[in-house]
Order: sequence, then C-alpha cells, then structure tokens
Amino acid sequence: MLTEILTLEDGLEKAVELIRKGEVVAFPTETVYGLGANALDKKAVKKIFEAKGRPADNPLIVHVADKSDIDRVAVEISNQAKAVIDAFMPGPITVILKKADCVPDEVSAGLPTVGIRFPAHVVATEFIKACRVPICAPSANTSTKISPTSAEHVFEDMNGRIPLILQGGECNVGIESTIIDMTCEVPTILRPGAITPAMLADVLGGVKTFEGKIVVAKAPGMKYRHYAPDCEMVVSSSAQTAVKIYDEEKDRKPVILANSDFIAEVAKIGNCDCIDLGKSDEDVMRNIYSSMHEAQKKFGFIICQDFGDKGIAASVMNRIEKASGGKRV
Ligand code: TXA
Ligand code: MG
Repeated sequence: MLTEILTLEDGLEKAVELIRKGEVVAFPTETVYGLGANALDKKAVKKIFEAKGRPADNPLIVHVADKSDIDRVAVEISNQAKAVIDAFMPGPITVILKKADCVPDEVSAGLPTVGIRFPAHVVATEFIKACRVPICAPSANTSTKISPTSAEHVFEDMNGRIPLILQGGECNVGIESTIIDMTCEVPTILRPGAITPAMLADVLGGVKTFEGKIVVAKAPGMKYRHYAPDCEMVVSSSAQTAVKIYDEEKDRKPVILANSDFIAEVAKIGNCDCIDLGKSDEDVMRNIYSSMHEAQKKFGFIICQDFGDKGIAASVMNRIEKASGGKRV
C-alpha cells in the first residue's frame, strides 16, 4: 500500500471517501497526530488496531468537531462534565463519559464509558466535520513507539500500513491530551497533559490527580509500555551529572535533551551534542517527542533533563519517565 501525505486542500475529498469506505486516515491534532476511522463502524475500528498492532483491550478516544455532537456518543452528561467541556473544548483534553449505545464495544474495549475529545486543530475539525461521523483515533504510531508530532513522523512509522496522512505541520501542544474521568464520584485525571490539575480544579472545585496507582489502573492503556524511543534513555537532574554520563557513554553516541538554560550549563563544563528543547515549559512540551524522534535517528543514547514536578512540566515528565523506563543517573 502506498501512503500519501496530502494537505487538507488536496486531500480532504479523498480522506472523506476513505472514511466512508471504512478505511483509516491519519490526521493532525494540536496534541499529536491521530489515526482515525469511523467510530460507528466496527470493521473500520478493527483496522486501527491492526495498523497499530494495538491490544484490543485498550480503548480508543472518539473525536468530534462540535460540542453538540457529544450527545450523540455519550449519555448522562453531568453538569460538572459540561463545565469541563465548556471550559476546555476545543482543546487538549479528553473527557471520559458514559457511552451511548451506538458506540461499539470495539471502540470502548468493552467498557461502559467512552473518551471524548474535541481537538483544536483546523485540519482535524475540518476533516471530522466533512466525514459527518464521529472519528475514533489513537495516536498514529505503532504500539509502544513514540507518538508522532509531525506528518513525517507518522510516515516513518506507518508507511505502507495506511493509505493517507493529512498534513497539518507540527503539533502545537506536543504531548497527548489530559484525560479526565467524569464518571467517578471525584473527577479523576487518568493521564496528565497540557490541561493541568490546577486548571481543572478551578472549574470543578476538586479533582483527583494522577498519582495513586488506582487512578492509573482506570486507563487500561497505562499498563502497556508507551512512548519509548529505540535507544536507551536516562534522566539527569544536573548538568554536571549529564556531562559525566555523556563522557562515560561516549562510545554509544550520546546526546543531551534539555532546555536552553540547562544546555548553557552543559556548555560551560563540556563539549557535548545537545538538542535544545527551548526556553519555557511550553516549548519543552511542544518539542519533547520530536526531539526524541530526532535523537533516536541520529544518536544511540539519550540523556534527558529532569524538568521537575510543577504544572505542565510534570505532565512532560510523565512521558519522559515512560520513555526512560524510570532510569535516573
Ligand atoms: O491527544 C490525544 O489524546 C491523542 C490525539 C490523537 O487525540 N490520542 C491519544 O490516543 O493519545 P491513545 O489511544 O494513544 O491514548 C488514549 C488513552 C489510552 O491510554 C486509553 O487506555 C485511554 O486513553 N482511554 C480511552 N478510552 C478510555 C476509557 N473509556 N476509560 C479509560 N481510559 C480510556
Ligand atoms: Mg498513544
């Protein structure tokens, strides 16, 4: 199968046609690229699992392009859930709600709930609107690989497995959406992201943060290894240690992934290959996956800065901990 990359202008018609025929199409969102199919068509949904090599007990998020479409796929939407939807959609958040009967078990992996997301990316919303059906989509990577933040990342991973990728440039947010379960008594964050606990608490009064293992178990996906680069990765909290490990691991072609300040510190001590993730935590969030993609291509060992446990940096660290398997130096 030939995998095409087309802009919205050139590819929309073809994308809609493919979705109607029950095929899959990769598309950009503000978080990461998704691999979409008609959420109401079981056979099409199965193709996503095949293309990704994804375990069938890991549910998919359903994407809509209008708040009024949420009623079609979810039921018993509480006022608190409505408040979250109004505050953060469209945006980098997924809300877990009780599912409507039309959502097949293949999408929800047999759960009575469904994750709903209304992305804030014009290519995503134009695509979903034109399809006239809700689009279920996981991140557009093969299982256990890093989520793609550009059409080129999708192509590298999925070439030959899917017919079409809609081009939408680089993802602005850069890590997957925050997932909040609104079906529990206390709204519970199942996956941290750009919408932080503090932002959610402002709207809800209180949320359970992503900390306890019980919370993790609610998102079935959390038990699988995720977001791992092809080479070994470790986390370092000081420039000194990073340079020391860099020198020790010289034979493995190491690289340091860090923000601009950290890299300036590194430059004072040693002469190391580095990838600069930018100045702010937003910059780091936007660039973290693309830097891992670049690092695994050009280098053989990744030393990544510890960005701490505050605000969105904590969400980025959640992905880095997974990628490094928790290894620290
Ligand atoms: O930003 C994102 O959310 C991206 C873009 C493409 O929208 N999508 C994404 O999908 O990250 P995926 O499949 O890679 O991750 C979805 C996560 C999985 O860990 C899955 O287990 C969890 O969401 N999930 C989906 N439905 C759920 C449900 N009903 N209850 C609990 N967890 C759910
Ligand atoms: Mg994923």
